[in-house]
Amino acid sequence: MGDIREQVKEYYSKMSIDNGGEMATHTCSCGTDSLPQYIKDVLAEIPEEITSRFYGCGSPLPPALEGCTVLDLGCGTGRDVYLASKLVGPEGKVIGVDMNPDQLAFAKSHRAEMAAKFYDNVELIESYIEDLSAIPDGSVDVVISNCVINLSPMKEQVFKEIWRVLKIGGELYFADIFADRRIPKEINENPLLLGECLGGAMYIEDFRRMMARVGWVDFRYMSSSAASIDNPEVEALVGNIQFSSRTVRAFKLPDTLEDICEQYGQTAIYRGGIEGCENYFDLDDHHRFFKDLRLDVCGNSCSYVQDTRFGKYFEIFGDRSIHFGPYEGCGNAPSVDGGGCCGGGCC
Ligand SMILES: C[S@@+](CC[C@H](N)C(=O)[O-])C[C@H]1O[C@@H](n2cnc3c(N)ncnc32)[C@H](O)[C@@H]1O
Repeated sequence: MGDIREQVKEYYSKMSIDNGGEMATHTCSCGTDSLPQYIKDVLAEIPEEITSRFYGCGSPLPPALEGCTVLDLGCGTGRDVYLASKLVGPEGKVIGVDMNPDQLAFAKSHRAEMAAKFYDNVELIESYIEDLSAIPDGSVDVVISNCVINLSPMKEQVFKEIWRVLKIGGELYFADIFADRRIPKEINENPLLLGECLGGAMYIEDFRRMMARVGWVDFRYMSSSAASIDNPEVEALVGNIQFSSRTVRAFKLPDTLEDICEQYGQTAIYRGGIEGCENYFDLDDHHRFFKDLRLDVCGNSCSYVQDTRFGKYFEIFGDRSIHFGPYEGCGNAPSVDGGGCCGGGCC
């Protein structure tokens, strides 16, 4: 296990020390989500030296970050840390964690410049993401991570740590590479495939089971797209395994989360007010709340927009006092594309 992390460290040291760090595939840096304009505007202010060393596979920056404490797991050279620094504003805070001293040194070398440009609200910590003991229980509003958790040999421990550091109502929002089946040992242990974020990709159904064990009996996908490899040699090594780049959203709501969508007759209206969500708010890849339009919601979806930092932007009708059974059409069978909420009337 320790060896795997050492291997990964070495792989990413090469990336940050040598030039802009060309990787062997496009799996990392394949950014699936198109950035909203307000984030593009911030990105334009980040030095090219940093953005050219970005190895994420998505854009895990949820809206409404102002004033939040954000924790970036595996922050690398710091692109998302500095984006978040601007987005959380002067009252917020961003903590970047990475095990690789070279990547972190690079991020740190831009800290003063970025503090002068944005805000002096960034802390960079050299640590394994499996042990976040430097961060107190229940102290973080939003945990983000971009193409990192696949690299960990102890993924469940990472999710336990995330659950621990999040506040109640806090959010995990991360992008990563997933697989449509369990990865065979020889692929998992291949240093190139591991470093390229393929060897350690989580099989989506095992991921769902792991999340449930930790407390996330429901979570949502924000986006999903086929991961591009663009390297015939690597493609030959991975064979028929299909990889996808996905962005996941999960809220720490231990008292309200249920493993399937339950019907309580609740409805919710997005009243606007979130930057970047002027006309609508996407809760996930299948719930779009148009401003001022009332939407039927299951108990979990209702809790996501009521009991989190999004609550102040929503008007909720109804509570859980009357239960009408499972949300019609929604079951708890494993789904290719979802957590607990898998295609019912609300979904
Ligand atoms: C693919 S890069 C992504 C970096 C950054 N998130 C970005 O989007 O540019 C993976 C990063 O995760 C870090 N990493 C991998 N496994 C880790 C672990 N177990 N603990 C801490 N950091 C880890 C690596 O050092 C590397 O900087």
